Amino acid sequence: MDFSAPRGMRDFYPEDMVLRNRIFDAWRAAAVASGFEHYDACVVESLDLLKRKAGEEVENQVYAFQDKSGRDIALRAEMTPTLARMVAARQGSLQFPIKWFCIAQCFRYERMTKGRKREHYQLNLDIVGEDGVSGEAEVLVGAIDALRRMGVPDGAYRVRLSSRALLSELLEKLGIPEKFHAGAFIALDKKGKLPREEIEAILRDEGLDDEACRKAFDLTEISSLDEAAAIAGPDSPAIARIRELFALLKVYGVADQVVFDISVVRGLSYYTGIVFEAFDTKGEFRAIFGGGRYDNLLTTIGGKPMPAVGLGFGDVVVGELLKALGLDGPTGDRDLVCVGYMQPEQRDAATRLAARLRAAGRNVDLRLHAQKAKAFFAAAAQRATHAAYVGPDDVAAGSVRMKNLSTREETSVPLA
Ligand code: HAM
Repeated sequence: MDFSAPRGMRDFYPEDMVLRNRIFDAWRAAAVASGFEHYDACVVESLDLLKRKAGEEVENQVYAFQDKSGRDIALRAEMTPTLARMVAARQGSLQFPIKWFCIAQCFRYERMTKGRKREHYQLNLDIVGEDGVSGEAEVLVGAIDALRRMGVPDGAYRVRLSSRALLSELLEKLGIPEKFHAGAFIALDKKGKLPREEIEAILRDEGLDDEACRKAFDLTEISSLDEAAAIAGPDSPAIARIRELFALLKVYGVADQVVFDISVVRGLSYYTGIVFEAFDTKGEFRAIFGGGRYDNLLTTIGGKPMPAVGLGFGDVVVGELLKALGLDGPTGDRDLVCVGYMQPEQRDAATRLAARLRAAGRNVDLRLHAQKAKAFFAAAAQRATHAAYVGPDDVAAGSVRMKNLSTREETSVPLA
């Protein structure tokens, strides 16, 4: 019998939950602090919803199967199509804009590399029904706040931000018509991941000639927003929008963490406008989070038109970053009282004490059988913050000493 989890799937032993809880707690706190509402859905989705345009990596990574009635279903690879479906189902009654968050378990049959598993959790922050850059700002600030709550210093990462609308404007200026843009985005996203010749081959498959391929490629060499603005021209709506967002991020006090980087395109085809990805500044890990504006997804799945923006923030990469920064320990005060007893005769007294402490809001690990003092205190020292050990003398005296295991202080607690 092989006791390991299926390849790419993760077991979380109690010691692994320390890091996972640290991440999830920060995610939840940041999302709630920014006014996002919690939603959720089943990890099983209908395959139809997830079927996508050719060329997207994620399309080939879906875990798909048939249920016993022959329905084609899949484990979700991301939350966004499900969110779009849920919103479309209530589009007539929801009060827009909505700000929703969830922590979604996702499955992708990926080639496993550092930071990539076949199963991961993702914080999703999404705003549906708002087309202004306040939407982009709020989701970005939510993710930055989560990193801060995990203890990650501002200098340890950068959000790289660009815009597909800008790339579209620039491609248009180069004489590359709009019908080629979607394919060009997916190909350009592979820059740095695939050799240039392979990307050019993809662009050629999309219908671009050699000249257009070269021009499209050269765009990704643009090194500043001013340089992009010079090509896009003074009336570029995409440039105006990026500038407005940067000005707003300055007001939030997070502008230093966000930089313009035209090479950020994103690998999912539904993005329409501003797109972004966060990376550690040392360049050791893959993207910490990524997202952008996707104003057409609702209509693509059959809903009414509605602007949307959001991001996905995975637990795997940030977990590695937290480990590298020595921030993977438990946070906050973890209160745990270990209650034990010397002989079976003291079980009821210890149990009563444990029940009372629990009723008073304390966390109590009541030992399941009588133990010698040495064994009890050794076990308590493993996890507990306090220990109370009930012996026959304590029962006779009607009280027991509760020991603070870090300060060694003792207080007397009545047993009755
Ligand atoms: P994504 O870039 O595919 O976007 O994933 C978002 C984040 O999830 C990544 O930056 C990474 O942290 C994590 N992630 C993705 N795949 C894996 C994997 N195989 N192993 C570990 N971590 C992974 C989306 O999924 C979009 N749906 C995000 C979004 C929400 N856009 C708008 N709203």
